[in-house]
Order: sequence, then structure tokens, then C-alpha cells
Amino acid sequence: MTRAVLAEHVSETRLWSRLRDLAAIGATPKGGVCRLALTREDGAARVMLAVWAKMRGYSVSEDAIGTLYIRREGSDPSLPPVMTGSHLDTQPTGGRFDGAYGVLAGFEVLEALDDAGVQTRRALEVVGWMNEEGARFQPGCMGSGVFAGAMPLAEMLAVADKTGATVGEAIAALPKIGPARNFGFPVHAYVEAHIEQGPRLEAAGDTIGIVTGIQGARWFAVEITGSEAHAGTTPRAQRKDALMTALNGIQALRAVMTDPDDQVRFTVGRMEVSPGSPNTVPGKVFFTIDFRHPDAATVQRLGDLVAPTLEANAGPCAIAVRETFTGPPVAFDALVVDQVAVATKALGYSHQSLPSGANHDAKFMARLCPTGMIFIPCLGGVSHNEAESATPADCVAGARVLAETLLALANT
Ligand code: GLV
Ligand code: MN
Ligand code: MN
Repeated sequence: MTRAVLAEHVSETRLWSRLRDLAAIGATPKGGVCRLALTREDGAARVMLAVWAKMRGYSVSEDAIGTLYIRREGSDPSLPPVMTGSHLDTQPTGGRFDGAYGVLAGFEVLEALDDAGVQTRRALEVVGWMNEEGARFQPGCMGSGVFAGAMPLAEMLAVADKTGATVGEAIAALPKIGPARNFGFPVHAYVEAHIEQGPRLEAAGDTIGIVTGIQGARWFAVEITGSEAHAGTTPRAQRKDALMTALNGIQALRAVMTDPDDQVRFTVGRMEVSPGSPNTVPGKVFFTIDFRHPDAATVQRLGDLVAPTLEANAGPCAIAVRETFTGPPVAFDALVVDQVAVATKALGYSHQSLPSGANHDAKFMARLCPTGMIFIPCLGGVSHNEAESATPADCVAGARVLAETLLALANT
């Protein structure tokens, strides 16, 4: 079988219709998707994928943190498999492609191999990592983090959402879809397809991004404790206003995090002000910080300034800063990056090499095995937004590159 023959079996119509079916679970009125990790919607998406897999005769299993595995057996089942996939969970105002595309592009490759009558030497496994987004439960990349041994299982099972529901409880409430799987089993290579979530491919008119690595990220959870007081009577000198302390700290951090070449990414994405009454001085504030940079030393240096900067601006309040995620920059393995480049060129797609600004489960898989990623363009570079959009032609192009890359890796 020549490589081009496999790519021909990768079906644009089938991939697009599966993307549409999955996007219906948690669909929002604005055309996006809200399918937070381990919710009923996430459970329904997992069941849909498992049903498709079982109809094809693939085996389905899940691990103790709720990650789903779909395995197409190889001619030598004793060999470590090649893995591909991404995540089924979304942001609260998420799109139809972030995560779902990588899982379904992987699934499309399995179906194309069946249709082409190809047996690979190694098994191929499509994985749906639990809670990549970190929107409901922090940190993100929880499934791959536990799989890679970078996050302790017991600690992650105890993480609670805003309502106090824990990861462990939410997993227990999901429909069971397959036998249990161990963490950290040997993997020959991991390749993840994803929309770029940035503007570079579209701006250059390129179809494929050959991803060289992922920038570093550190997340923090900050709790400020002041004291509730009457808004109309309490003089300034007596106030312990947790929100004013939060604003001063964030303003000071904004200065620290502003660089001339606009490489630093600094986001306060969630803030809760308590008790949340117009005429009570806020006694408590909780907020999150997402900080990213491509350079390891800068990730360390600026990240280490977060707690002292907030403390220096605490005023009369108490501050507790907890780091909830630490992901240094990752450079992908030359073997996989080259294989993606070979497949892209063989298929004749315009391309560029680029790093990823967004986090992906590939960051944790890179600790375990040779890892790489394939990007396709998304409209206007927009992501984490209900307007997120990608074309059927680009989706199938990425899946074809994925197919050829996986085929080569699964036969080595
Ligand atoms: C996930 O989308 C992230 O980049 O945090
Ligand atoms: Mn994603
Ligand atoms: Mn995302």
C-alpha cells in the first residue's frame, strides 16, 4: 500500500458529519459548544464516541481519571501502541473544534485504515483526555498529567469545582463505558491534531502547521481575605476591602507582565467577589492567573514574581497564592516533527513550522514518548469562542497528514 492510498480513504464527509454530531452535544445558541469536563454533556460525548468505536470493532477502555481509549489492534499486540487524540471537554463558551477535532481526526484515521484494509504492526489508540481545558476543574491537562505521572491521582480526584463537586464524584456519576486501564503504559509515539487557535497559518495561507513545541505556562489561584463592612458608613482607614487589594495586585502584575515584544501572556480569567452585595465591602476575593511565555527562564523568573508582587500590594488584607499548574516549555521530538513534515510534503500541502501558544495534552505526553502535533488553520485565529470555525477542506487535510504520520510510526 502506498501512502497516498491511505490518505484517499480519509473521508472529508465522514469527518465533517462526526464533527457536527459531536458539536450537537452541548450546543449553544450562538453556534458554539459548552461541554465542561465530566458533566452530563461530556458523558454523552464519550458514550457517542464509544458507540462509534464498538460499531467498528475497536476496543474501548477508560482509566481512573476518566480518560477514554479506543484501540485498533496491530499485528503485534505486544508492542507499545502509537497514540493520537485530544479532548472532548470545552470552554464554557467554547467552539466546535478545540479538542473535538483532534479526537475525531484520530478516529477518522482508524476508519480509513479499516477501509483501506491496512493492518499496522503496532496498535493505534485514539485517546480522549479528561479535562484538558481546566475550565471546570483546575488544572487543565488533568488526564494526560496523571497519565504521565506529573499529577498525583488522589490529589486530582479531590479537586472540586465552584459548587464543591469533586473530580472523583463527577467520574463516579458518568456512565461506565469500558474496562479499566493503567496509567503510563509504554507508548511508542504520540501525535495530536488541533486547530491552531492563533492567526499564523491563515495569515500565511498555509494549510498545515508542523508544530515544534509548546510554550511554558504557570497557573495560580489567589485568595484575598479582608473584612465585610457597611459600604455607607465605613471610613477608608477602617476598610479591609478584598477587591481593592485584588485590583492593586493585578495592576502591579500587569506592569511586571508587560514586555516590549508582546511575548508574555497574562490573564485573570475568573474572579469571585464575596459576599457579592452592592452595599457590603467585599471581605473575600478569589481569582485565577494564567501566565505563559516561550522561554523557560522567563517562565521561571516572572512566575516567581507573582506571589511577592501580590503580597507587596496586600494593604490591610491577607493573601494566599497557590500554584495550580506548572508546565515548562516543551520542544517536540525531532523524529515525530520530521515525520509530520515528510507526510505534509508528500501530500503537497502548503505549510510552516510553528510553536504552540495554547496548551495541549501533548505537553505531558512529551515526557513519556516521542511526541508531535499537527495544526490546521481556524478562522481569524479565533478560539475559546463560540465563533471558532475551520473548513472541511482544512480538517480533512490535517487528518490526512495525521493518517500518513501515524501509519509510518505504527510500522516502525
Ligand atoms: C487550553 O486550551 C489552554 O491552552 O489552556
Ligand atoms: Mn484544545
Ligand atoms: Mn482549549
